[in-house]
Amino acid sequence: MASVTSSELMAKIVSLCKRRGFIFQSSEIYGGLNSCYDYGPLGAELKNNLKQSWMNAMVREHDNIEGLDSSILMHPKIWEASGHVANFVDPLVDCKTCKGRFRADQLEMATCGLKPSKTPKTCGGEFTEARSFNLMFKTFMGALEDQSAVVYLRPETAQGIYVNFLNVMSTSRQKIPFGIAQIGKAFRNEITPGNFIFRTREFEQMEMQYFVKPGQDEAELERWKEIRLKWHLDLGLKANKLRFHQHGPKELAHYAKAAFDIQYEFPFGWQEIEGLHNRSDFDLGNHQQASSKKLGVFDEETKSTYTPYIIETSVGCDRVLLTTLVDAYDEETMAGDDEGPRVVLRLSPKIAPVKAVVLPLMKKEGLPERAEKIMADLRKNWRVQYDESGSIGKRYRRADEAGTPFAITVDQEAGTVTVRERDSMKQERISESNVVEYLRKFLN
Ligand code: GAP
Repeated sequence: MASVTSSELMAKIVSLCKRRGFIFQSSEIYGGLNSCYDYGPLGAELKNNLKQSWMNAMVREHDNIEGLDSSILMHPKIWEASGHVANFVDPLVDCKTCKGRFRADQLEMATCGLKPSKTPKTCGGEFTEARSFNLMFKTFMGALEDQSAVVYLRPETAQGIYVNFLNVMSTSRQKIPFGIAQIGKAFRNEITPGNFIFRTREFEQMEMQYFVKPGQDEAELERWKEIRLKWHLDLGLKANKLRFHQHGPKELAHYAKAAFDIQYEFPFGWQEIEGLHNRSDFDLGNHQQASSKKLGVFDEETKSTYTPYIIETSVGCDRVLLTTLVDAYDEETMAGDDEGPRVVLRLSPKIAPVKAVVLPLMKKEGLPERAEKIMADLRKNWRVQYDESGSIGKRYRRADEAGTPFAITVDQEAGTVTVRERDSMKQERISESNVVEYLRKFLN
């Protein structure tokens, strides 16, 4: 790709997402709602493919991992026991000069409200003392709006898993070690959301909690680090853009005994896309104490009861989606092309929102009918699209921008079609009756 600055690259991705229906600003016709986004047709397909890939990798490929879908609103005591009421806080400062609000520990990553080329650390503004700001959204349950009716929107899906630990273990007849996986919305009243969908106030998490015997936790954390890194590589992310970052003592969340991030090198720097935590017996131990329900497991070998340790893998679906877009975005200058560089999303065919587009060369001579027959066969297997408007070059470009890996062109040569591969732009002529089998090799 021709050299573009990091802010130009992000602006291009945001513009492509809107233009092609991946992601829209939420409540746009009312001027938008800060840090909330809606997924359009292509974005919703991409997100579903990512969730499907995660569910397959975690639940279908592991006989000892079960799925769960717990509620967003839970008993408020859960958030006291989990430590979130007391500890899920960020240090907040106000700038007396520009009136902006910033996270005191991330001043170098924010932008000054009056001098956009400076950060709040370098603009010379004067700050208030840092104070703790709890990130949980509160609402009221029932008709009364008093303290007794307060409930929280969950800031992580994990707690829904912990409070269902015994339910799942007994109904699925699992034994330690085993895991519970779920995908669901989480909410955080972030002080400084930003970088498009990287940090938002409403987002989706894909979390797996793996219950192990104390003493096996460290080895399990190492094992899950490798499994999870491989998942990101299998999505097609570039290996040189991924790395682990180990949390130092000051970075560790209140529940973590040890933690590693999987980081990606975004245009705005290396940032966390997934967190892996050794949560020890912190969560089950606290819930056991606060609920007075026994959450221990009987060990047949030692004839004693213990509280399992938890290894957690936690990845943001929206954040991974942004990562796949950043990783896949490319511009290619082509000789003699007056339409400007070709914009192409080199998404892995496995996650591409649309797998193939069918293009009749002309709207006559029976080509649309042949194309429709191919569409009928393809749509039984994958999400595909039909496009008959504009020149064939323009139609290829539309498909490239959407990340569609294959374009099938129906021309006058009866019985055959050409298949154009998005990245190499190479074309191959194949039998018209063989299109599904041909694509299956690349897509399944
Ligand atoms: N249960 C553990 C937990 O929530 P975390 O490191 O706070 O750990 C895990 O979050 C993942 O959730 C992050 O790696 C990121 O992908 C995603 N995430 C967290 N906060 C987010 C936000 N404000 N916007 C988008 N994604 C977020």
